[in-house]
Amino acid sequence: MKTTWVLGLVAMTGVALTSLATRTGGSPVAPDPRAAVFLRHGCNDCHAIYAFRMKALHDVGPDLSYAYTNVPTRYGVDLETFLDRPTGMMRLMLASHIQLSPVDRDSIVQTLKGLYAQRVALGR
Ligand code: HEC
Repeated sequence: MKTTWVLGLVAMTGVALTSLATRTGGSPVAPDPRAAVFLRHGCNDCHAIYAFRMKALHDVGPDLSYAYTNVPTRYGVDLETFLDRPTGMMRLMLASHIQLSPVDRDSIVQTLKGLYAQRVALGR
């Protein structure tokens, strides 16, 4: 009885991991744990974050590895302001399909800022 339960759990975990691999473009390499908040909101439908080994299902948006510096250059506002008052495609997405709580928005900003700081520290 107990064995059946454990086997069921193992099988379920396998299914969950397989579907995660599919969502990240079928990559056999697990994405960085910092990708979790992006995967949870489906950002990977359109964006890769190669620095976190997160692939996009459809590469329609830019790689978010560089968003912290690209957003001010492209939109003239910082990343936090952009996610709060987005324009273009992201305005549509964040107004309808994707609901970001203030906590999630902060963690996205901090995560992408951390990635930038890491790149500066490594000199790349
Ligand atoms: C349906 C596709 C789609 C989804 C899902 C999506 N985005 Fe986007 N995003 C885009 C596109 C396309 C752009 C390029 C700008 C444009 O065309 O308006 C963009 C631009 C951006 C930018 C500006 C990046 C830059 O370097 O200029 C950020 C930041 C961003 N998205 C964050 C997110 C986050 C965070 C999520 C998940 C919460 C997300 N996006 C989900 C399509 C998407």
